[in-house]
Amino acid sequence: MHRLLLLGTGGIAAHHIEEFARIPECEIVACVDLLPGKAKAFAEANGIARHFESLEEAIGWGGFDAAINATPDGVHKATTLALIGAGKHILCEKPLAPSYPDALAMTEAAESAGLVNMVNLSYRNSPAIQLARKMVEASEVGELRHVEAAYRQSWLVSKAWGDAMTEPQWLWRQSTAHGSTGVLGDVGIHILDFASFGAAEDFVSLKAELVTFPKVEGGRVGEYVLDANDSVAMSARLKSGALAIVLATRFATGYANDLSLSLHGTKGALKVETDGNRSTLSACLRADVDKGEWRELQLPEVRRNARRFADALISGENGDPSFRRAADIQKLIDAAFESSASDRRVTVA
Ligand SMILES: NC(=O)c1ccc[n+]([C@@H]2O[C@H](COP(=O)([O-])OP(=O)(O)OC[C@H]3O[C@@H](n4cnc5c(N)ncnc54)[C@H](O)[C@@H]3O)[C@@H](O)[C@H]2O)c1
Repeated sequence: MHRLLLLGTGGIAAHHIEEFARIPECEIVACVDLLPGKAKAFAEANGIARHFESLEEAIGWGGFDAAINATPDGVHKATTLALIGAGKHILCEKPLAPSYPDALAMTEAAESAGLVNMVNLSYRNSPAIQLARKMVEASEVGELRHVEAAYRQSWLVSKAWGDAMTEPQWLWRQSTAHGSTGVLGDVGIHILDFASFGAAEDFVSLKAELVTFPKVEGGRVGEYVLDANDSVAMSARLKSGALAIVLATRFATGYANDLSLSLHGTKGALKVETDGNRSTLSACLRADVDKGEWRELQLPEVRRNARRFADALISGENGDPSFRRAADIQKLIDAAFESSASDRRVTVA
């Protein structure tokens, strides 16, 4: 049995409880949260045996061999390095870090310590994206020409998930001083991974425009200066020369949490859609190309991230998406910042 520590008991922690409840080889044995009383309440509500108010206390206790890092983005690096220092395997939330150099430092530390290191790029759990990639690899769409990817959320307007102008879990996501890299680190990382995983090839250059829209008088709410980007639109090229457009936004009214990816090749096209729960994959292939007819495909069972993390703990062989993959995507995010600031296309090495 692998004993897991859950670090951070905020919004995403419930997802990890649900995911690991399906994994018989893993048990969440303790949780940590900095806010007084929060870990205790979470432990009681979820039947977790131990709780702590600092990572140091949990490491001092030491009764776990792996950790799920579910702290806010700006906290990932210091806490992950502390866990690596203590010899713990890690499933870290995305984005791995606020910049490529930080993400690379974390990757190298985990790899040189020989620890399992994965990042919860949770849309890999979509059976539609997994099947789409297999079909692209099997050349079912021919040579890729166009990729269109969008991640649409609306929590800056919609109250479906709470009030973005008063609740801390939404305010830190709008503030660079609180470690946020805006929509890029929040969901841009998901859609860049989703697009290049589905296309089965990497991005090699991009031109991005980042926008921070006015939201409140004076642009701040208490300690939170709302300066992080809200939306990004980019054009990009993939290694094969395919032309991509990518949109990520928190201002897409009408959509709560929707990802879409269209892949158009010389032999046909695929369209993936998911809201994180439901996924669909449609295809327009072979003779259907002449009629522009699309068919919805049957989706397979897939190994979800939590299952792949458990398998990596059991085998000792690292799983995907790894820290290195997340660091590579982070390079694109850094390039998007550079491109938007300089108004130039940026090549990604
Ligand atoms: N994979 C996904 O689809 C997905 C979805 C949502 C959030 N996330 C990621 O999960 C992370 C957490 O997001 P959230 O929505 O749960 O945020 P949140 O603000 O709701 O929760 C974060 C929790 O971490 C605690 N915390 C902060 N610093 C800490 C520390 N040093 N030690 C222990 N606890 C600490 C906070 O008190 C808070 O309770 C973020 O990196 C976010 O990007 C990923």
